[in-house]
Amino acid sequence: MNLLLLLSSLLLLTTTTTATTFIPHPGNRITIPTWHIQPTNTTYPPNTLNYLNLTTPDSHSTILATLLDPQNQPNPIIPPYNESALFHSTTLSTIPTTPFQSPWLYTTTLTLPHSISSHSNTNTNIILSTHGISSRGDIFVNNVPIGSISGAYNGQEYDISPEIKEGENEVQVKVYPVDYTRDFGIGWADWNPPPPDKGMGVWRGVEVRGVYGVAVQGLRVVVVVGDVAEIEGGSGGKDVKVRVRVDVKNWGEGSVKGWFMGRVYDNSTDDTSSGVQFAEAVTLRGGEVTTLEAEVTIKNPNIWWPATWGKQDMYTVSANFTLSDGTLSDTAECSFGIRSVTATFTDHGDEKDVSFNVNGYPFHVRGAGYSPDIFLRFDIDRVRTLLQAVLDMGLNTMRLEGKLEHPQFYDLADRMGIMVLAGWECCDKWEAWEYNTDLSKNYPWTNTDYLTAQAMLTHTSLTLQPHPCILAFLLGSDYPPNPRATTLYTTALNHSDWTAPIISSASARIHPSGMKMLGPYDWVPPNYWYGERLGAAYGFGSEQGAGVGTPELPSLRRFLSEEELDRLWKEKNAGMYHMSPAGSQFHTRGVYNAALWGRFGKPKSLEEYVFLAQVVDYEATRAEFEAFAVRQNRSGRAATGVVYWMLNSAWPSLHWQLIDYYLKRGGAYYGVKVGARGVHVAVDYESGEVYVVNHGVERGEGRVVVVDVVGLDGKRLYHEEVKSVVMGPTMSKKVTSVVPWVGGWDGVVFLRLLLKDSGGEVLSRNVYTLPGRLDVLDWDESTWYTTPVSEYADFSALRGLPTVEMGVSGKMGGGGGGGVSVTLENRDKVPAWFVRLSMVDEAGGEVDVWWEDNYVSVLGGEKVVVSGRVNNSGKMGIGRMRVVVEGGNVRRRGCYI
Ligand SMILES: *[C@@H]1O[C@H](CO)[C@@H](O)[C@H](O)[C@H]1NC(C)=O
Ligand SMILES: *[C@@H]1O[C@H](CO)[C@@H](O)[C@H](O)[C@H]1NC(C)=O
Ligand SMILES: *[C@@H]1O[C@H](CO)[C@@H](O)[C@H](O)[C@H]1NC(C)=O
Ligand SMILES: *[C@@H]1O[C@H](CO)[C@@H](O)[C@H](O)[C@H]1NC(C)=O
Ligand SMILES: *[C@@H]1O[C@H](CO)[C@@H](O)[C@H](O)[C@H]1NC(C)=O
Ligand SMILES: *[C@@H]1O[C@H](CO)[C@@H](O)[C@H](O)[C@H]1NC(C)=O
Ligand SMILES: *[C@@H]1O[C@H](CO)[C@@H](O)[C@H](O)[C@H]1NC(C)=O
Ligand SMILES: *[C@@H]1O[C@H](CO)[C@@H](O)[C@H](O)[C@H]1NC(C)=O
Repeated sequence: MNLLLLLSSLLLLTTTTTATTFIPHPGNRITIPTWHIQPTNTTYPPNTLNYLNLTTPDSHSTILATLLDPQNQPNPIIPPYNESALFHSTTLSTIPTTPFQSPWLYTTTLTLPHSISSHSNTNTNIILSTHGISSRGDIFVNNVPIGSISGAYNGQEYDISPEIKEGENEVQVKVYPVDYTRDFGIGWADWNPPPPDKGMGVWRGVEVRGVYGVAVQGLRVVVVVGDVAEIEGGSGGKDVKVRVRVDVKNWGEGSVKGWFMGRVYDNSTDDTSSGVQFAEAVTLRGGEVTTLEAEVTIKNPNIWWPATWGKQDMYTVSANFTLSDGTLSDTAECSFGIRSVTATFTDHGDEKDVSFNVNGYPFHVRGAGYSPDIFLRFDIDRVRTLLQAVLDMGLNTMRLEGKLEHPQFYDLADRMGIMVLAGWECCDKWEAWEYNTDLSKNYPWTNTDYLTAQAMLTHTSLTLQPHPCILAFLLGSDYPPNPRATTLYTTALNHSDWTAPIISSASARIHPSGMKMLGPYDWVPPNYWYGERLGAAYGFGSEQGAGVGTPELPSLRRFLSEEELDRLWKEKNAGMYHMSPAGSQFHTRGVYNAALWGRFGKPKSLEEYVFLAQVVDYEATRAEFEAFAVRQNRSGRAATGVVYWMLNSAWPSLHWQLIDYYLKRGGAYYGVKVGARGVHVAVDYESGEVYVVNHGVERGEGRVVVVDVVGLDGKRLYHEEVKSVVMGPTMSKKVTSVVPWVGGWDGVVFLRLLLKDSGGEVLSRNVYTLPGRLDVLDWDESTWYTTPVSEYADFSALRGLPTVEMGVSGKMGGGGGGGVSVTLENRDKVPAWFVRLSMVDEAGGEVDVWWEDNYVSVLGGEKVVVSGRVNNSGKMGIGRMRVVVEGGNVRRRGCYI
């Protein structure tokens, strides 16, 4: 772009109109809707201060998210990019980092209406609350410094009234560059490259409100719950006591008399005036800061349950502080659920395992690690889709390793019944403990750092406390905090009346925490999970997986160049920009590709590589979740929970995800969807034992398990039916063994397991391809990220399967308009291997469908019905829809529906 063009576009930018924010009357609060941002460094780019002035797209936006926003394109700081260009190939690496090495200013205008300034009450205080400035900021009102804050998750309240005048006022936040080793920033370790601005900016909204002297904050609820099963099971009459607590501050100098008042009501009733009232008379000295409490009793309460166990009933507390003359000073509101969450720790010598319990039932965590967007952009629709995917896969938990989200995230998790393991992130400043000598020697925590860390947890835990979705808080990820920080952290949690479990870290380094972090993070064969070492299915694995999550071809084409696509399948050990950053163990797909090549043979095309990757990914994620399900209540060392590393990625990534950046779902996703199925039948790869699994709280009786083994020629090698199977709540048990097991036949076979109810309806259908000999693990050569295989299982025969004629028919309807149902009929003898279903519109574009199952293998003569739901049936695309099938030995074909 030439300079003239640049300048003319800048002129356009400066004509953006600005809106002022009116300070609301006491009882209301507002979030400053937008900011103008400017660099403070006038030398880069030259002379920008005088004219560069961009508007944030939102109330909370990092510098880079603002620069990338279409309304601010082009701008002289970064080259002109749109979203798809930015993530394509290595473009992101070309964004200069220099502009983010000096401070930036966020500026906004606050208007104080005459009606507030003229109020007869002399004690009118204007309170500004921050919730997250990364990683450090100075706050100014009309050029007067108000306060300085550090720590990305810190939130503080400031009385800005001394500087506020009637009419317009300028509020500025000067944000400082982030240094991951010195500052409590939002770091990404080996997840993805750091964003060029390292997340610098006002990344969470800033709130403003007026109060008449007394401000309340941190409304929280302690539910004195006892035995939930008793409340729920008892024929009513059980009551629950609820203690509503709030922090209060008298900003004025004189003492104040007033009332802490409010109401607790059931969210399922529309009548917000109903519920139980409370009112406590209070006298506050000038400047007093204290915590107020009121207790109410809820009769016959509705219990909040995790999804699939019951309803997500919620209550809301609406509270206020009213002065004795009846003037309202401040209000607060929060929603909560009545549920119990506990953790027990079982000792196993030097180690221990945590088991969670929700509402009296063992809660086996089936989770995955959540990632926000790389530029910390928060899109609630996107989050909703991710949470929907979590439920769709049969998972029940998300782990947030740092990257603690906006309150709306937890509201959604509450409503959808998904548990959240929240906690601090690994590495850098966060874990510069004595036992991390390199970090602690160069960047030891100062006294101020300890106080900042405590303040961050106070603010964070007050926000999280009422949410029933919270399963625990993890004080550290890879390492536990040292004793001094531990004391400060637990004091913070205690202050916020934290009732959920507290876990010292996600790993057993330094001391046993109840969780293990022993890998793997890269490919391991499916029988790994049935071992007894490292990440195998015992205890609680806080972040582990076979490193898979290869996007399907349409997604790959969106972010890889032709040259990168070529290297992807041709070069086993190629460094890839869209893997972990250079220097990381995970910059190449070497471990993964060695296995793919070793087990299936060298791929002959990009298409074939991507197909085989889906096969590998599916097998890997299914095995992990099945093994943890199968061993959930075994005697000895049971598997109490597992968190897959990870759910999603911050940017378009080639690995560590179950759903890709474009929210598309491939082999890794559908593998979990089978492996984590609520009522299921699975096989132990090592022993050939067949288990039924129930993740629900309901019993099942008279169930039937059918086992079939067939050769690649379609010949039946084994058949068995087990009848009258009884399944208790949250359990697994062995129903039979396949004899002989792997080793007892030549070459590859298909194993199909069916679990049926007493009426013959199939509850779970699960097809494996099994080799003539399992992968041989070399456990003693394990590293922190993988266990090598000394001899790969041979699946190459699958690539030589004869092509099968697959009958396909489909119909729309059912499920509220977007329903679709597809019948696959294998008219051959030979099994149809790994058939992908998709739906395309007349223009050939893929329509997004939530399939109940995908990548299905269909035995000879078998008929399988797969249903699905079009994601957004209102916008279904153009013309008639076709269902398209395509698989290992099934030629691509479509049928109109
Ligand atoms: C940025 O531009 C807006 C709109 O013209 C203007 O109101 C505002 O004062 C400017 N801010 C700064 C800090 O220059
Ligand atoms: C985004 O940029 C790319 C590359 O410059 C271009 O091909 C594409 O058309 C642009 N897309 C949009 C929506 O502007
Ligand atoms: C401003 O940016 C220039 C160019 O990157 C840099 O050399 C200089 O140190 C910066 N000045 C300040 C005050 O940060
Ligand atoms: C404060 O709360 C009480 C109890 O819920 C309610 O009756 C009253 O109307 C509230 N005051 C205001 C001004 O909203
Ligand atoms: C409960 O109801 C209140 C008032 O209608 C609403 O603000 C809140 O979001 C609701 N909470 C939940 C969890 O549904
Ligand atoms: C937690 O706080 C309560 C008061 O809120 C106090 O009574 C109790 O001693 C504290 N416990 C710990 C372990 O600090
Ligand atoms: C697991 O639970 C089921 C159902 O409660 C029970 O039949 C089985 O014996 C349990 N297994 C072990 C090892 O305790
Ligand atoms: C489904 O549709 C909604 C609404 O249009 C959209 O926000 C969401 O991203 C879509 N989900 C997927 C997986 O594409």
